[in-house]
Amino acid sequence: MRVTMIGTGYVGLVSGACFADFGHEVVCVDKDRSKIEKLEKGEIPIYEPGLEALVAENVKAGRLSFSLDPAASTPKADAVFIAVGTPSRRGDGFADLSYVHKAAEEIAEVMDGYTVVVTKSTVPVGTGTEVEEIIRRARPDADFSVVSNPEFLREGAAIEDFKRPDRVIVGAEDERAQKIMRELYRPLYLNETPIVFTNRATSELIKYASNAFLATKITFINEMADLCEKVGANVQEVARGIGLDGRIGPKFLHAGPGYGGSCFPKDTLALVRTAQVHHSPTKIVEAVVEINDARKKKMAARVIEACGGALEGKTAAVLGLTFKPNTDDMRDAPSLDIVPALQAAGAHVRAFDPVGMREAEGLLKDVEYVDGPYKTLDGADVVVIVTEWDEFRALDLERVKSLMKAPVMVDLRNIYRPDEMAEAGIDYYSIGRPRKS
Ligand code: UDX
Repeated sequence: MRVTMIGTGYVGLVSGACFADFGHEVVCVDKDRSKIEKLEKGEIPIYEPGLEALVAENVKAGRLSFSLDPAASTPKADAVFIAVGTPSRRGDGFADLSYVHKAAEEIAEVMDGYTVVVTKSTVPVGTGTEVEEIIRRARPDADFSVVSNPEFLREGAAIEDFKRPDRVIVGAEDERAQKIMRELYRPLYLNETPIVFTNRATSELIKYASNAFLATKITFINEMADLCEKVGANVQEVARGIGLDGRIGPKFLHAGPGYGGSCFPKDTLALVRTAQVHHSPTKIVEAVVEINDARKKKMAARVIEACGGALEGKTAAVLGLTFKPNTDDMRDAPSLDIVPALQAAGAHVRAFDPVGMREAEGLLKDVEYVDGPYKTLDGADVVVIVTEWDEFRALDLERVKSLMKAPVMVDLRNIYRPDEMAEAGIDYYSIGRPRKS
């Protein structure tokens, strides 16, 4: 199959490289000249484990190439994917679809022969119909189908998620389009991955419902964590206790500082707005959005409390800045709320993140960025674990204690056990677990 992927952001690049690895001939298109030039040199603009090697391998095999011009490959393509950004529109939280509409116009200009146009970007219900109308208006005689095929990739595990997904969702309104989609995902059929065919609106909603449900699960356990702190219960054991019920499941029940990232905050908000427009409000998701925003803002108060109620003149060592490990993505990261709040309380913030510091530098001001976890600790009054990178999981606690002015740790990801910290003589605060002292 011949595939054009419009947009070489996170989703487009991972999907393009994986489709090429499935054996298809893929051209990834982007308007950003410097991005395409970099990709042609084998430089990957994002941090995603395994992606550089996958791209290199498929370029070498002649299955994957890059272009600035959609006209170069689209006329011959069996499927053209729209994988451009859908940021939250400033002011109202709706998904901004201008890039999707623009891509549809460009495809209409150059498509030739039967083409399946696939929306891979996360788009509100009804966008497939809009894309169809745009193309139909520009080319009344064109032979095409518009299909919705949302992605469920997690940053840091995107290649694995693409190649071994729990399911593939395809919203296709006709047999011809279904056949092409089936062919594209053929290797997954052989793996017995469930491929769910449905109509376009359902497929579009599945994506939002899925992210909103996961965000709800996280928010639920975060509220349970707060309650655990009040009643002397342990949220990790609550999560295990409820997660063993197959109807609930064990995943996405890690209490923490609130979810961030490029998807959950944007998609929950977009779902809330879509539901409001259709006069069918999703009150649960509205509450989730509000609770999560407030939670991120409240996290710094825990640090202040751990330091006896004041941070004035103190040094806070922050470990981890990205919204989660194995990514350099800082979008809606809890650190963006926590660090400024610590600074506003008078703390000097020294921080380290294994790959996110370059991104963070543009967003977090007056932070002393250092190289390595132990360097943040030198003379610090408190250490705050904001992101659970593996390299923070086995710190040498004796060294931690000897470097810090006072051995106070606020672990917002529960990567240590209260009893081991008590034994090590570290004044330890975590999320939703009784303190051992
Ligand atoms: C998410 C979805 O998982 C993916 O299917 C979708 O396509 C895009 O959005 P991603 O944003 O990469 O992927 O990260 P994910 O691993 O889902 O984590 C999102 C946020 O939730 C992070 O801030 C993470 O720290 C937080 N989280 C996740 C928790 O706080 N607790 C959990 O139990 C799980």
